[in-house]
Amino acid sequence: MFDEITKKQVEAVAEIKAALDKTQLEKVETKWLGRKNGVMLEIMKELQKTVGEERKQFGQAANQLKQAIEQALREKHAELSEAAWSNLLAGERLDVTQPALPGATVGHYHPLTLVQRELEDLFTSMGFMVVDGPELESDYFNFTALNIPADHPARDMQDTLYIKDHPEWLMRTQTSPVQIRAMQKYGAPLRIVVPGKCFRNEATDARHEHTFYQLEGLVLDKGINFSHLKATLEAVAQHLYGPQTKMRLLPKFYPFVEPGVRGEVTCSLCAGQGCRVCKNSGWLEIFGAGLVHPNVLEAGGINPEKYQGFAFGFGLTRLVMLKYGINDVRLLESGSMKFLEQF
Ligand code: PHE
Repeated sequence: MFDEITKKQVEAVAEIKAALDKTQLEKVETKWLGRKNGVMLEIMKELQKTVGEERKQFGQAANQLKQAIEQALREKHAELSEAAWSNLLAGERLDVTQPALPGATVGHYHPLTLVQRELEDLFTSMGFMVVDGPELESDYFNFTALNIPADHPARDMQDTLYIKDHPEWLMRTQTSPVQIRAMQKYGAPLRIVVPGKCFRNEATDARHEHTFYQLEGLVLDKGINFSHLKATLEAVAQHLYGPQTKMRLLPKFYPFVEPGVRGEVTCSLCAGQGCRVCKNSGWLEIFGAGLVHPNVLEAGGINPEKYQGFAFGFGLTRLVMLKYGINDVRLLESGSMKFLEQF
């Protein structure tokens, strides 16, 4: 009898281990522990027939068998659950190398990103480095270090959004503060462009938006003069609008350059003939520029006796509007799919 119980234990455990899924496991469980015709039940019936010492030993053996079966069942249940879980995970796995299904919609770059990338490519080909700066800026970097002290009227032209209870923090009105940050970080010589978001407190209309993009540039080296500025920006203008494009520089005041200019190019839409976009002048203003003011060099930790430089700022938003003939600046930040799908 005892031999038989030991044999049964081996048999039961083997059957449990062989179960491939929960249904098979349930069948094995009923066979051995079932309350109607389970093997264990039969053994207990046999046990009733015994007495004395035999009963004691039989009872122990039967108990051991039951425990072994229960233990094997628990283990198998756990094993099958784990397998089910990892199968589920395997099914969830995302194969990023799988080709797109037909009809899947593919996104594309925003027109601002397209023009930004085009300019980054051009400037890096000329040895410029593309750098970044914070949009939440300090009053110091946005104004004071750029030769615009607290009481300077130039601040009025660039009203912006301030942070409540923190008058020293503001949303940058221009990418020019990155000039100072880059000088402090990299020193001279230096050739950088800084594309980025700027903010102003504007009553928005078709031509004014509270959020817009600029592309700043800064070149520092020994003996930099105005002709470097002119040749560089002419190359950019002709890259953007073709080799026949003419550029002209007119005096304009910016506190952080001396002398300062605004740069205009022949209108790409009417080839300088005069149209609605250029207000019949034949010219379009696309950047501000100038030779870096000595005070600005000093704020950036550069010795103005040793190094000179030029800086420029393109209205990236304006370039995009001109390139694609967009007549309302607000469309760019609108998130309108109808608008974006055209690019
Ligand atoms: N920061 C100026 C603006 O926002 C543009 C500029 C940049 C002018 C660099 C000169 C030099 O209008």
